[in-house]
Amino acid sequence: MKIIVIGGTGLIGSQVVHQLQQAGHEAIAASPNTGVNTLTGEGLSEVLQGAQIVVDVSNSPSFADEPVMHFFKTSNENLLPTEKTAGVQHHIALSVVGTQKLQASGYFRAKQVQEDLIRASGVPYTIVHATQFFEFAGGIVQMSLSGNQVVLPDANIQPIASKDVAAFMATTALAAPAGKILEIGGPEKFRMTAWIRQYVQATHKNVEVVADAAALYSGAPLDADTLTPEAAVHLGPTKYADWIAQPENQR
Ligand SMILES: NC(=O)c1ccc[n+]([C@@H]2O[C@H](COP(=O)([O-])OP(=O)(O)OC[C@H]3O[C@@H](n4cnc5c(N)ncnc54)[C@H](OP(=O)(O)O)[C@@H]3O)[C@@H](O)[C@H]2O)c1
Repeated sequence: MKIIVIGGTGLIGSQVVHQLQQAGHEAIAASPNTGVNTLTGEGLSEVLQGAQIVVDVSNSPSFADEPVMHFFKTSNENLLPTEKTAGVQHHIALSVVGTQKLQASGYFRAKQVQEDLIRASGVPYTIVHATQFFEFAGGIVQMSLSGNQVVLPDANIQPIASKDVAAFMATTALAAPAGKILEIGGPEKFRMTAWIRQYVQATHKNVEVVADAAALYSGAPLDADTLTPEAAVHLGPTKYADWIAQPENQR
């Protein structure tokens, strides 16, 4: 089966490509680094010729409000009609648990536009909503840093290893299109502060982690369970304590 992985050079994408190739499929990484650009349309119709499945795990190089909206809107306006013309039978895209509740955030408004364009495209689809990746803990620290304090919302989080997300994306890409959102998460729910403290301790960061009920996540207010799945169809098996104990993950 010919499967195009948009963003196939990224954290999730490279693992999806590898898994699909191991399973004997012709999985092709499509991204600016391989000559395919969804923003400009460069290389799109060529790479999609004869493809049955498209996995979209691309991400915007900038998370600022305007560029991120431009990225997800324009990319999908280019990609989805080209897939329709090529006769693609399944478009599977990765988004984030709680996207619909996080609309005060420019990043999540852009992800919502991506999802709406997929639903309206006429291409059979599955949208996967994943929780935050274990690998994203450092990003959360950076975006929540105030002096030497990491100021986090007083909310829950259920992070998942990127390898478990990639495995689910690869399996789901080969299944029939669900035509709806499928939620996935990690095996354990933490207070956000408790999770980030584990990361900070393991990586020896000299910062204090505190909760503030008024703190925002990516510019949006959180309820206790905005970021956790309501009805997960799958929980990744990897536990955070085991994962962060590996030296290669202590970055
Ligand atoms: N971080 C989290 O915790 C989290 C949680 C749930 C869902 N997600 C979603 O997961 C997805 C993938 O995230 P990731 O961390 O794996 O991303 P990533 O490692 O930052 O990779 C981004 C990929 O997008 C590609 N890309 C950038 N501009 C492009 C363009 N114009 N045309 C085509 N491809 C382009 C990049 O290609 P080059 O290498 O060529 O630049 C790269 O392959 C995102 O959509 C995100 O919303 C993330």
